[in-house]
Amino acid sequence: MAGKTGSTDLLLGVMGDPIAQSKSPLMHTAALKALGLPGAYVPLHIAPGQLGEAVQAIRVLGFRGVNVTIPHKIAVMEYLDRLDESALAGGAVNTIVNDNGVLTGYNTDGIGYVRSLKAEAVPDLTGARILVLGAGGAARGIISALLQEQPAAVVVANRTAGKAHELAASWQSAGTVSGVAMEDIAGIIPAADIVINTTSVGMYPYPDELPLDPGLLHKGLVVSDLIYNPLRTRLLEQALNTGCTIHGGLGMFIYQGAYAFEYWTGQAAPVEIMRQTMLDAFGVSEADMELLK
Ligand code: ATR
Repeated sequence: MAGKTGSTDLLLGVMGDPIAQSKSPLMHTAALKALGLPGAYVPLHIAPGQLGEAVQAIRVLGFRGVNVTIPHKIAVMEYLDRLDESALAGGAVNTIVNDNGVLTGYNTDGIGYVRSLKAEAVPDLTGARILVLGAGGAARGIISALLQEQPAAVVVANRTAGKAHELAASWQSAGTVSGVAMEDIAGIIPAADIVINTTSVGMYPYPDELPLDPGLLHKGLVVSDLIYNPLRTRLLEQALNTGCTIHGGLGMFIYQGAYAFEYWTGQAAPVEIMRQTMLDAFGVSEADMELLK
């Protein structure tokens, strides 16, 4: 399975710059161990100028696959043999699978996010009215995955309104998607079922920031934040105080990894062990755990 080396050990890794902070090696190493699969998942520090050679090295060294993270998710696409539909839809690759030297790029961020949202907060998204805050790369990936769940409507709101309109226009054929300026969300939120923050507002090192006026939140709304550092953002704190259901970003990280693991190994990922490994890494107590799910 591992390729040219003839070894049966699974060689896996993550390419990024910087990479030392990545929690993926910890999570995937725990998953390999839990299933008794011999192999290793290593951090690979790849500078932008070395990306092409690094991708070639996947073939030469017989890696079964790698994750790709900042800043390589878009640039890596030109070096691959095939791009899965998810990569084309998301406009980026976060997972490469090596089948005997043929490299296919996937994007598991969007489907990972939706799997997490369904597993942890909203089991059925059919007919849901969804407001997405932000129109960058993270929004693009999740919108394509959300549209596959047949929501009633997706509204994209962005500080730079033009980007929201552009993103919405590019998905017209896949569902009811529209774009608005961030200052216009007061008229949208009352009818929304789910609000998803895909912006970086509230992320470490600025955890006090809010992507919207919390006075706009209402009871019964599901508030989801892609940020997982901090695990509980200020937005989620405010939402909880308002009686909303909250959904944090850790699940997206776990499930994007779970899909990648499943593509590489052909086996169901040990999701609960991956989650526990991450909670341990963040030093989360038993008491806090239920609240973070
Ligand atoms: P990513 O790939 O993580 O989505 P990105 O493509 O740089 O990163 O997009 C960042 C998103 O966060 C954008 O929607 C950005 O809004 P603009 O398009 O107007 O820049 C949004 N964002 C970042 N900082 C913001 C802030 N302080 N207030 C509002 N939106 C912000």
